[in-house]
Amino acid sequence: MQNIRKFYLVFEIISILLTIFFYKLNKISLFSIFLTSTFYYLVAFILPKIPVFFTGLIAFIMLFIFMLTITYTHIDFEIPGKYIFSINYFYIYILVIFILSILTLIDFEKFNILNIISGICLMCLFFIFLYFSFNNRINVVNYSIETNKIMNKDIKIALLSDTHSTIYPNNDLVNDIKREKPDLILLTGDIIDDVASIKGTDILMEKIKDIAPIYYCTGNHEYMAKDYEERIKSLESYGVNYLNDEYKIIDINGNKILISGVNDPYIDTKVKNYPSISDRLKELEIECAKEDFNGVKILLSHRPELYDLYSNYDYDLVLSGHAHGGQVRIPFLMNGLIAPKQGLFPKFAGGLYTLNDKTKMIVSRGLSIEALPRIFDPPELVIITLK
Ligand SMILES: [Fe+2]
Repeated sequence: MQNIRKFYLVFEIISILLTIFFYKLNKISLFSIFLTSTFYYLVAFILPKIPVFFTGLIAFIMLFIFMLTITYTHIDFEIPGKYIFSINYFYIYILVIFILSILTLIDFEKFNILNIISGICLMCLFFIFLYFSFNNRINVVNYSIETNKIMNKDIKIALLSDTHSTIYPNNDLVNDIKREKPDLILLTGDIIDDVASIKGTDILMEKIKDIAPIYYCTGNHEYMAKDYEERIKSLESYGVNYLNDEYKIIDINGNKILISGVNDPYIDTKVKNYPSISDRLKELEIECAKEDFNGVKILLSHRPELYDLYSNYDYDLVLSGHAHGGQVRIPFLMNGLIAPKQGLFPKFAGGLYTLNDKTKMIVSRGLSIEALPRIFDPPELVIITLK
């Protein structure tokens, strides 16, 4: 028994070193170090008889499958009228194999080479699980919206939300956007953070400003910054069109589209007696009605929890962010643990929703990677094709 505990102590040290390595490599939260430590102490003291039978073999099969599936290939699940969520295939493999490994637990009284190999394999499994559950690589999520209002070529939109002035390693986000060749880039708030410096936003805007026209609405964090007006001006200096409770009609690929953008309700902490979002939406509706416009109408508004309000208006598509995917997700079971103003198990944590016969809403799970840990909830770049 003592030997096994020493053995696990070595695992523990290796696991912490590996976690620090992953942290450096991919900015995985320090929270993962805590989790790893807890896991190994639990294994060492509660479950000293480590799994042996076929675990090694299963682990190698799993690693092989993992090598084959280390792509951003998704499987999408739709609950009609509610939402679609997508899962990377390798999450499923990891979960299945992990469960199989647990099932192979048998009593093993002696400490031998098979035991060591299977222990190492189990540790590899755990790290792969940890790595991908805390995976901060950007997920590209595609939605397509069919409408009879697109008369000419399809329109491809890149939706970026909640970047929180993040500086993306290796130019990841920019490369993903360029690869998609969007016709339009839409930003749904919290692009500027109140705590982080504006540098991350500057770097990103400099690199994406020439890809496609950019339209933007504010989020709550913009108004949490003391110098929010200067920060928004700095965003505009990159050619970003700030929709300050207003709309624009633009031509994309021969199609006319109307884009409205509303300021986040948090603006009332900075501007006294600022009209409510409901009044501002009503006002916009009256203004838009004066146009002889039959194309696609899009609303940019940071808060998904106001879905009820949005469904009263004449938009084809509402785009939001703010919920960060509910921070923790469990594939198949839970599309988000917690989100502001929505509480536990938020319905509008991320995905595609049907608000009524006419209006769809897409909630981005956001692109921040520096703040709270995201578990099974990687940052996402949303690509929408209007057909
Ligand atoms: Fe927000």
